[in-house]
Amino acid sequence: MKVGLAGFGFAIRHAQVIAANPFVTEFAIAELSTDRREQAAREHPQARIFDDAVEMLQGMEPDCVIVASSSNSHATITRAALEAGIHVFSEKPLALSWAEARELKSLADQAGLIFQAGYILRYEARHQLLHDHVNSGRLGRVVLIRSKRNCSRTWFETWGKHSHPVLESMVHDLDLATWLTKQRCVRVSAWGQKFLGGPPPEAVVAVLEFDGGALAVLETSWLIPDGAPANIVGPLGREDEGAGVLDAHFEVHGTSAVETLSLYDPSLMLMTDERTYVPESTLFPASALGVGGALRDELFDFLAHVRGDLHTGVASIDDAVHVQAVVEAIGRAAESGTPAAVED
Ligand SMILES: NC(=O)c1ccc[n+]([C@@H]2O[C@H](COP(=O)([O-])OP(=O)(O)OC[C@H]3O[C@@H](n4cnc5c(N)ncnc54)[C@H](O)[C@@H]3O)[C@@H](O)[C@H]2O)c1
Repeated sequence: MKVGLAGFGFAIRHAQVIAANPFVTEFAIAELSTDRREQAAREHPQARIFDDAVEMLQGMEPDCVIVASSSNSHATITRAALEAGIHVFSEKPLALSWAEARELKSLADQAGLIFQAGYILRYEARHQLLHDHVNSGRLGRVVLIRSKRNCSRTWFETWGKHSHPVLESMVHDLDLATWLTKQRCVRVSAWGQKFLGGPPPEAVVAVLEFDGGALAVLETSWLIPDGAPANIVGPLGREDEGAGVLDAHFEVHGTSAVETLSLYDPSLMLMTDERTYVPESTLFPASALGVGGALRDELFDFLAHVRGDLHTGVASIDDAVHVQAVVEAIGRAAESGTPAAVED
């Protein structure tokens, strides 16, 4: 199988997973930055290296592409791939707008191509168990979902401002709420705060109303100071330039039971003179075993689907497109100060 990877930032992890897949016979990496291209060539000497993702699609003609470049490049690369008959895995968000996401999905449908959205939490073991419990009726009817997703303040400068905290962090909770309730969000109220000189806001609160009666209260804040123990650290042996905090808490309140889940897990702690680390160990742990966890399960699942093998069907592109419609409604509600209907 010929696999292309677009982007080599956060996707250094994706590259390790792809390289470890036994069915990948040809591998290429596209990256705009010279330094990162050189790093990719050093770490993956078997891979062909390209300057740009669209150039890679033309030069390599892969069976599939994994789009893990900057969020504002996803739609262009995905469109080029689908038009060339190439299956696509796209990191979240699918696009910067709902209209683009919808158009990409219909392009994939027309061409009969796989288009998978990278909502990694669907592949994380505790989120899977939570989903099983909701699905089996153990919680009764879902009444309320409550979530918070906190990120480092320094990330707001480097990542959050590139697109929007709702697209970068709250989308995970929008996807989880859609997946767990199996309902569509019809109306949102939302507020954003811009004390750090946005746009965009560094903190957002959204209240969602679903067509089956469920409610969700979602919060995201990009204000965690550098003094907090870091849980998202670079793979071992490298500079930890990505060190920061992703602190998430998720609750599902049902008519029969309540279930809660915390991502920030201090069960493993590394204390140094500079900082304390509580390495995240379920999403994309990197060790001598390679990159494991949810990211490996997610990408291997996509590659199995491309090969025509059994795959889980956990990912849903319909839900991912719906999430983009909710993102836009949140933007309208926060801007106008009045509830906004979700156009879907
Ligand atoms: N699923 C998750 O948990 C998760 C976590 C972090 C990031 N992400 C997503 O992954 C994506 C990448 O994250 P990041 O932090 O590395 O973003 P980033 O913007 O810092 O870096 C992305 C890299 O893509 C490269 N790039 C941009 N356009 C390109 C193109 N046309 N061709 C080739 N390379 C290109 C850039 O040079 C950069 O090195 C983002 O969309 C983000 O939302 C997902």
